[in-house]
Amino acid sequence: MDEMDIKALDQTYVANTYGRADVVFTSGHGAEVFDDRGRRYIDLGAGIAVNVFGLADPVWIGAVTEQLGKLQHMSNLYYTEPCVRLAKLLCKRTGFKKVFFGNSGAEANECAIKTARKWAFDRVGDESRSTVITLKNSFHGRTVTTLSATGQDAFHTKFGPFTPGFVHASAQDAGEVRAFAEQGNCCAVMLELVQGEGGVVSLTRDYVDQVVRIAREHDMLIIVDEVQTGNGRTGTLYAYEQFGFMPDIVSTAKGLGGGLPLGACLLGERVEHTLGRGDHGSTFGGNPVSCAGAVSILERLDDALLAGVRRKGETIKAALSGAKGVKSVTGLGLMVGILTEKPAGEVVKRAIERGVIPLTAHEKVRLVPPLTITDEQLGEAMEILKEVIGE
Ligand SMILES: Cc1ncc(COP(=O)(O)O)c(C=O)c1O
Repeated sequence: MDEMDIKALDQTYVANTYGRADVVFTSGHGAEVFDDRGRRYIDLGAGIAVNVFGLADPVWIGAVTEQLGKLQHMSNLYYTEPCVRLAKLLCKRTGFKKVFFGNSGAEANECAIKTARKWAFDRVGDESRSTVITLKNSFHGRTVTTLSATGQDAFHTKFGPFTPGFVHASAQDAGEVRAFAEQGNCCAVMLELVQGEGGVVSLTRDYVDQVVRIAREHDMLIIVDEVQTGNGRTGTLYAYEQFGFMPDIVSTAKGLGGGLPLGACLLGERVEHTLGRGDHGSTFGGNPVSCAGAVSILERLDDALLAGVRRKGETIKAALSGAKGVKSVTGLGLMVGILTEKPAGEVVKRAIERGVIPLTAHEKVRLVPPLTITDEQLGEAMEILKEVIGE
């Protein structure tokens, strides 16, 4: 099919919910992607923080294809090996006790919210503590409930009524979290430690320390949404490790599956027995192929790789901080936001024309490359990006 046909058919037959860039990608390898004309690009988006080992990763392909040849799907009515191997690996590496598998970040958050509410119900015997505190400028997904959780007004029009039981507190002033907690109707506070879609804005350590203290004082759970920050993206396996506390629930997805749909909700000891038989479920959750691929990802997210992520993150910051047209550089590890003088959309469009693929997040340019991007690829991409931003 030629390029014009693909674009025309997409516009005719695919729901028009995405503003697509004017390019058709056909293949790739590591952090390099090729379009249908054979043109090479350096990928600084990784399918929105998904392809942690880049494209056509041979280890992941081996794990996935081996499993495909054995058993592509069975229902959760039966035991399968990849699902338990992944759950054990996640628990051993984090200290969490149990894992519920879904297919996406939004579903991982749905599980987290249901768990928190059931936990509170079991304690007080009714729904009087069902409210979840989330933060302004957060993003938690596109289902009706995770949109309610999302603390951005732009998402709260046209699709109501939304699920009740969410309040949005300041991400700078922990006093707002305290004020909601003191109302006595909250079961949990839910945080993105680096607000990704909100513009790659990291919460401060002091703010997080205060929120953790408030949650503990008011017998609330702490849920950390690591859908984007997780699986090595910020330079530790999960970002909470850099903030010095242990959450009660962590939701994650994106990079975990290495490119296949997979979400996970990690349950700590306070909630390990909260969900019982029939309380939650998913037809595809814990799919053997997705889980076999995820095991091959998680096994390789070792100390050396994570140190490389931190170092490459610093390389990006050093290259762009103070460069012409750059107002600020924020983020953690290989999750970077750049506030530019030019509109971010213009920078991205121009960069793609020059063979580099960044993303946007709010008013910023966002970089979330494969964690294995080479120093040469990163150097080449930074030179082009600097030129485009400074033009
Ligand atoms: C922090 C965070 N939570 C949840 C989601 C939703 O994930 P998904 O699109 O897989 O449902 C995203 C997606 O960008 C995210 O960044």
